[in-house]
Amino acid sequence: MSPVTPFVVAVDGPAGSGKSSVSKEVARRLGYGFLDTGAAYRALAWHAEASGIDTDDAASVISSLASFDYRIGTDPAGYAVHVGEADVTDAIRDPQISAVVSRVARVPEVRTHLIELFRAIMAADAAPGIVVEGRDITTVVAPDAPVRILLTASEDVRAARRSAELVGSSTSDVGEQMRRRDAADAKVVDFMTAADGVTTVDSTELDFDQTVEAVIGVIRSSQPVT
Ligand code: DC
Repeated sequence: MSPVTPFVVAVDGPAGSGKSSVSKEVARRLGYGFLDTGAAYRALAWHAEASGIDTDDAASVISSLASFDYRIGTDPAGYAVHVGEADVTDAIRDPQISAVVSRVARVPEVRTHLIELFRAIMAADAAPGIVVEGRDITTVVAPDAPVRILLTASEDVRAARRSAELVGSSTSDVGEQMRRRDAADAKVVDFMTAADGVTTVDSTELDFDQTVEAVIGVIRSSQPVT
């Protein structure tokens, strides 16, 4: 039997670009699966902290992979993240995790391990399609995806959106943290510029619904009309 080629919609972008919520809604509207790859890096940071591991020590982070029992569903309507028996769906969004996640994401062995996991999920859950979002999906995880999108927005708009999500935080504090995390993450993978063949969707002037429609427009224009 020949292998089934998964119909993958790859979406990359910086923090606060809305790629998670937009990708999830696009998947819901099209009846596709949804994979948030950042959740795996966050869950590993959570697991390391919960195990008392110093996330600055790459060797310890690598050894924590052996006990990292990670599960994530691909149903956009039933999004949940588990590490072992623990439901960490909310815990991995904690600012404490956002502050340390780049340390685990920069470790090459961690990336290799998680990329294999993402590819296995994509292959298993890709019918009729799957929207996969992160930082290196268009370039490393699924460079052959039939649809590849870079979702961007101006730094000010991204900081304002993030601070609206985090009750009680000022836009300037959130903006500063966001800039710091993007700078750390961008040393590992370039998600600020579109690679060859990647379509940029700039949501600076778009509301949520318009951004979702813009992404669906790119997907429709990439599919052969039957
Ligand atoms: O998208 P997010 O903020 O949930 O991502 C969490 C962290 O994981 C982010 O700081 C960068 C890293 N990440 C990555 O390096 N590669 C990915 N494909 C997804 C996320």
